[in-house]
Amino acid sequence: MKRAWVFAVALLLKPVLGRAEPAPPLYENRCSVCHQAGGVGVPGAYPRLAGRAGAIAGLTDGRRAMVSAALYGVAGVLKVDGQTVVGVMPGFAEVKDAEIAAVLTYVSHLGGAHPKPFTAAEVAKVRQGDSLTPNQVNALLRQPAITAVAP
Ligand code: HEC
Repeated sequence: MKRAWVFAVALLLKPVLGRAEPAPPLYENRCSVCHQAGGVGVPGAYPRLAGRAGAIAGLTDGRRAMVSAALYGVAGVLKVDGQTVVGVMPGFAEVKDAEIAAVLTYVSHLGGAHPKPFTAAEVAKVRQGDSLTPNQVNALLRQPAITAVAP
């Protein structure tokens, strides 16, 4: 009986406390191995996405850099929370635009920020541009406007 009450209260509080969106399958299957469940990252190795991706996604250039990262991968030296990360991320160019959009929307909403959702059209537009190397994507992420919001 007591348990039933705890359950009922938990259900009532869930919309208030646990507003986390469910992770799309692409995140679970391909991203969480490095960026971890909930996008908490591994300090010094894999960038935290929770809180950070949302800030980057608030900028037009940041959104383009995020789509490029997902499509083409990222490699190089990156500052994450003031710590230097020398990392390599694979690209996921074989994944459909809509799935890339869903996974980027998911990571940009981790940590409470609510930038506008990524769309399949937005991903397609980046894909139609020049294909970038992982090092070029790293340079996009290191633009001063982006490091200002995600130091
Ligand atoms: C093999 C590990 C690995 C996997 C898998 C991976 N990433 Fe990454 N990711 C990294 C590393 C390492 C970096 C930083 C690269 C660098 O140092 O230039 C990064 C960078 C990023 C960034 C930029 C972060 C920032 O703060 O500038 C985003 C966004 C991102 N990843 C999203 C994703 C998404 C979405 C997926 C799944 C589709 C994914 N990653 C899969 C390792 C990974």
